Amino acid sequence: MNGFEINKIAGAILLAGLVALVTGKITDFLYHPQLSTEERGFSVATADTAIRGGAVAKEKAPEPEVQLGTLMAAADFAKGKKLSKKCHACHTLNEGGHNKVGPNLWNIVNSQVAVDDTYKYSSALKAKGGEWKFESLFKFLKKPKAYIKGTKMSFAGFKKPEDIAAILVYLRSLSNSPANLPEIEK
Ligand code: HEC
Repeated sequence: MNGFEINKIAGAILLAGLVALVTGKITDFLYHPQLSTEERGFSVATADTAIRGGAVAKEKAPEPEVQLGTLMAAADFAKGKKLSKKCHACHTLNEGGHNKVGPNLWNIVNSQVAVDDTYKYSSALKAKGGEWKFESLFKFLKKPKAYIKGTKMSFAGFKKPEDIAAILVYLRSLSNSPANLPEIEK
Protein backbone atom coordinates (compact mmCIF):
# COMPACT_ATOMS: atom_id res chain seq x y z
CA MET A 1 0.00 0.00 0.00
CA ASN A 2 1.50 3.30 -0.97
CA GLY A 3 0.99 6.65 0.63
CA PHE A 4 -1.52 7.67 -1.99
CA GLU A 5 -3.77 4.70 -1.19
CA ILE A 6 -3.54 5.30 2.52
CA ASN A 7 -4.64 8.84 1.90
CA LYS A 8 -7.58 7.61 -0.17
CA ILE A 9 -8.67 5.22 2.58
CA ALA A 10 -8.30 7.85 5.26
CA GLY A 11 -10.29 10.22 3.12
CA ALA A 12 -13.03 7.66 2.62
CA ILE A 13 -13.24 7.01 6.35
CA LEU A 14 -13.39 10.72 7.05
CA LEU A 15 -16.10 11.18 4.45
CA ALA A 16 -18.14 8.28 5.85
CA GLY A 17 -17.86 9.81 9.29
CA LEU A 18 -18.99 13.17 8.00
CA VAL A 19 -21.93 11.65 6.16
CA ALA A 20 -22.95 9.75 9.29
CA LEU A 21 -22.68 12.93 11.34
CA VAL A 22 -24.73 14.96 8.92
CA THR A 23 -27.46 12.31 8.45
CA GLY A 24 -27.53 11.89 12.20
CA LYS A 25 -28.18 15.58 12.62
CA ILE A 26 -30.86 15.49 9.94
CA THR A 27 -32.71 12.53 11.45
CA ASP A 28 -32.33 14.11 14.82
CA PHE A 29 -33.98 17.20 13.53
CA LEU A 30 -36.75 15.23 11.81
CA TYR A 31 -37.62 13.29 14.92
CA HIS A 32 -37.02 15.93 17.52
CA PRO A 33 -37.63 19.20 15.76
CA GLN A 34 -36.48 22.16 17.73
CA LEU A 35 -39.46 24.43 17.61
CA SER A 36 -39.27 27.94 18.79
CA THR A 37 -40.88 28.74 22.13
CA GLU A 38 -43.94 30.34 20.57
CA GLU A 39 -44.59 27.38 18.34
CA ARG A 40 -44.34 25.01 21.25
CA GLY A 41 -46.50 27.07 23.51
CA PHE A 42 -49.07 27.30 20.82
CA SER A 43 -49.23 23.60 20.07
CA VAL A 44 -49.51 22.66 23.74
CA ALA A 45 -52.26 25.19 24.27
CA THR A 46 -54.26 23.80 21.36
CA ALA A 47 -53.99 20.26 22.63
CA ASP A 48 -55.11 21.40 26.05
CA THR A 49 -58.18 23.20 24.85
CA ALA A 50 -59.20 20.69 22.25
CA ILE A 51 -58.55 17.40 23.99
CA ARG A 52 -58.22 17.93 27.68
CA GLY A 53 -60.03 21.20 28.19
CA GLY A 54 -63.50 19.68 27.92
CA ALA A 55 -62.75 16.77 30.19
CA VAL A 56 -61.20 18.96 32.85
CA ALA A 57 -64.15 21.32 32.80
CA LYS A 58 -66.53 18.36 33.22
CA GLU A 59 -64.69 16.89 36.18
CA LYS A 60 -64.64 20.09 38.12
CA ALA A 61 -68.13 20.97 39.24
CA PRO A 62 -68.46 24.56 40.42
CA GLU A 63 -67.46 24.86 44.04
CA PRO A 64 -70.49 25.46 46.22
CA GLU A 65 -69.09 27.36 49.20
CA VAL A 66 -69.08 30.78 47.57
CA GLN A 67 -72.27 30.67 45.60
CA LEU A 68 -74.61 28.70 47.85
CA GLY A 69 -76.68 31.79 48.63
CA THR A 70 -77.04 32.59 44.96
CA LEU A 71 -77.77 28.98 44.08
CA MET A 72 -80.45 28.71 46.71
CA ALA A 73 -82.06 32.03 45.85
CA ALA A 74 -82.55 30.65 42.34
CA ALA A 75 -83.45 27.12 43.45
CA ASP A 76 -86.61 25.41 42.26
CA PHE A 77 -88.76 24.38 45.22
CA ALA A 78 -91.05 22.12 43.17
CA LYS A 79 -88.05 20.33 41.77
CA GLY A 80 -86.67 19.89 45.27
CA LYS A 81 -89.94 18.37 46.42
CA LYS A 82 -89.82 15.99 43.49
CA LEU A 83 -86.21 15.05 44.14
CA SER A 84 -87.00 14.41 47.81
CA LYS A 85 -88.73 11.22 46.67
CA LYS A 86 -85.23 9.75 46.63
CA CYS A 87 -84.98 10.43 50.34
CA HIS A 88 -88.37 8.83 51.08
CA ALA A 89 -86.88 5.42 50.36
CA CYS A 90 -85.02 5.69 53.67
CA HIS A 91 -86.43 8.70 55.52
CA THR A 92 -89.77 10.13 56.59
CA LEU A 93 -89.85 13.89 56.23
CA ASN A 94 -93.04 14.82 58.10
CA GLU A 95 -93.28 16.16 61.64
CA GLY A 96 -93.14 13.27 64.12
CA GLY A 97 -92.48 10.76 61.33
CA HIS A 98 -91.01 7.41 62.30
CA ASN A 99 -87.47 6.29 61.54
CA LYS A 100 -86.94 4.10 58.54
CA VAL A 101 -83.49 2.96 57.39
CA GLY A 102 -82.50 6.51 58.22
CA PRO A 103 -83.82 8.97 60.84
CA ASN A 104 -86.78 11.31 60.38
CA LEU A 105 -85.72 14.55 58.69
CA TRP A 106 -88.29 17.06 60.02
CA ASN A 107 -86.49 20.19 61.21
CA ILE A 108 -83.13 18.98 59.94
CA VAL A 109 -81.77 22.39 58.90
CA ASN A 110 -79.77 23.92 61.76
CA SER A 111 -80.38 20.89 63.97
CA GLN A 112 -77.44 19.22 65.64
CA VAL A 113 -75.89 16.36 63.70
CA ALA A 114 -77.03 12.91 64.91
CA VAL A 115 -79.31 14.37 67.59
CA ASP A 116 -82.30 12.01 67.31
CA ASP A 117 -81.89 9.58 70.21
CA THR A 118 -84.62 7.29 68.89
CA TYR A 119 -82.30 6.45 66.02
CA LYS A 120 -79.12 4.40 66.07
CA TYR A 121 -76.55 6.43 64.14
CA SER A 122 -73.22 5.19 62.88
CA SER A 123 -70.28 6.18 65.03
CA ALA A 124 -68.95 8.14 62.04
CA LEU A 125 -71.97 10.43 61.98
CA LYS A 126 -71.99 10.77 65.77
CA ALA A 127 -68.31 11.73 65.70
CA LYS A 128 -68.96 14.44 63.09
CA GLY A 129 -70.65 16.77 65.55
CA GLY A 130 -71.71 20.32 64.80
CA GLU A 131 -74.95 21.39 63.16
CA TRP A 132 -76.57 20.71 59.83
CA LYS A 133 -76.08 24.08 58.18
CA PHE A 134 -76.96 24.53 54.52
CA GLU A 135 -73.25 24.37 53.72
CA SER A 136 -72.65 21.05 55.44
CA LEU A 137 -75.90 19.59 54.11
CA PHE A 138 -74.75 20.61 50.63
CA LYS A 139 -71.47 18.77 50.99
CA PHE A 140 -73.14 15.75 52.56
CA LEU A 141 -75.79 15.44 49.86
CA LYS A 142 -73.25 15.88 47.12
CA LYS A 143 -71.41 12.73 48.17
CA PRO A 144 -72.38 11.42 51.60
CA LYS A 145 -69.59 8.86 51.89
CA ALA A 146 -66.95 11.38 50.89
CA TYR A 147 -68.12 14.03 53.34
CA ILE A 148 -68.54 11.60 56.24
CA LYS A 149 -66.34 8.56 55.84
CA GLY A 150 -68.08 5.58 57.39
CA THR A 151 -71.63 6.95 57.31
CA LYS A 152 -74.23 4.26 56.78
CA MET A 153 -76.26 6.47 54.47
CA SER A 154 -75.99 4.51 51.22
CA PHE A 155 -76.97 7.26 48.87
CA ALA A 156 -74.68 8.16 45.99
CA GLY A 157 -75.41 11.88 46.12
CA PHE A 158 -76.36 14.51 43.56
CA LYS A 159 -74.10 15.60 40.72
CA LYS A 160 -75.75 18.92 39.92
CA PRO A 161 -75.35 21.76 42.43
CA GLU A 162 -78.77 23.07 41.28
CA ASP A 163 -80.39 19.80 42.36
CA ILE A 164 -78.82 19.99 45.78
CA ALA A 165 -79.91 23.61 46.13
CA ALA A 166 -83.45 22.55 45.18
CA ILE A 167 -83.44 19.78 47.81
CA LEU A 168 -82.11 22.24 50.37
CA VAL A 169 -84.92 24.75 49.85
CA TYR A 170 -87.34 21.87 50.22
CA LEU A 171 -85.66 20.57 53.40
CA ARG A 172 -85.79 24.13 54.75
CA SER A 173 -89.58 24.07 54.46
CA LEU A 174 -89.77 21.00 56.71
CA SER A 175 -90.01 23.09 59.85
CA ASN A 176 -92.43 25.27 61.77
CA SER A 177 -89.93 28.10 61.59
CA PRO A 178 -87.79 27.71 58.45
CA ALA A 179 -84.18 28.85 58.70
CA ASN A 180 -83.00 31.97 56.88
CA LEU A 181 -81.60 31.33 53.45
CA PRO A 182 -77.81 31.69 53.24
CA GLU A 183 -76.68 35.16 52.29
CA ILE A 184 -75.82 36.02 48.75
CA GLU A 185 -72.12 36.78 48.57
CA LYS A 186 -70.99 39.55 46.33
C1 HEC B 1 -80.47 4.31 50.98
C2 HEC B 1 -81.04 4.96 52.11
C3 HEC B 1 -80.95 6.47 52.20
C4 HEC B 1 -81.32 7.40 51.26
C5 HEC B 1 -81.84 7.16 49.85
C6 HEC B 1 -81.12 8.70 51.87
N1 HEC B 1 -80.64 8.54 53.15
FE1 HEC B 1 -80.17 10.02 54.44
N2 HEC B 1 -79.58 8.68 55.82
C7 HEC B 1 -79.64 7.31 55.67
C8 HEC B 1 -79.06 6.67 56.83
C9 HEC B 1 -78.92 5.17 57.04
C10 HEC B 1 -78.65 7.71 57.68
C11 HEC B 1 -77.91 7.57 59.00
C12 HEC B 1 -76.43 7.72 58.66
C13 HEC B 1 -75.46 7.36 59.73
O1 HEC B 1 -75.86 7.13 60.89
O2 HEC B 1 -74.26 7.32 59.41
C14 HEC B 1 -78.99 8.95 57.02
C15 HEC B 1 -78.75 10.22 57.56
C16 HEC B 1 -79.11 11.41 56.96
C17 HEC B 1 -78.90 12.71 57.55
C18 HEC B 1 -78.31 13.01 58.91
C19 HEC B 1 -79.44 13.02 59.92
C20 HEC B 1 -79.08 13.41 61.32
O3 HEC B 1 -79.93 13.24 62.20
O4 HEC B 1 -77.95 13.90 61.58
C21 HEC B 1 -79.39 13.61 56.66
C22 HEC B 1 -79.41 15.11 56.80
C23 HEC B 1 -79.90 12.86 55.54
N3 HEC B 1 -79.72 11.53 55.74
C24 HEC B 1 -80.49 13.45 54.43
C25 HEC B 1 -80.96 12.74 53.32
C26 HEC B 1 -81.60 13.35 52.19
C27 HEC B 1 -81.93 14.83 52.06
C28 HEC B 1 -81.85 12.36 51.29
C29 HEC B 1 -82.47 12.47 49.91
C30 HEC B 1 -81.81 13.33 48.99
C31 HEC B 1 -81.36 11.12 51.87
N4 HEC B 1 -80.83 11.39 53.11
C32 HEC B 1 -81.40 9.89 51.25
C33 HEC B 1 -80.12 6.63 54.56
C34 HEC B 1 -80.53 7.21 53.38
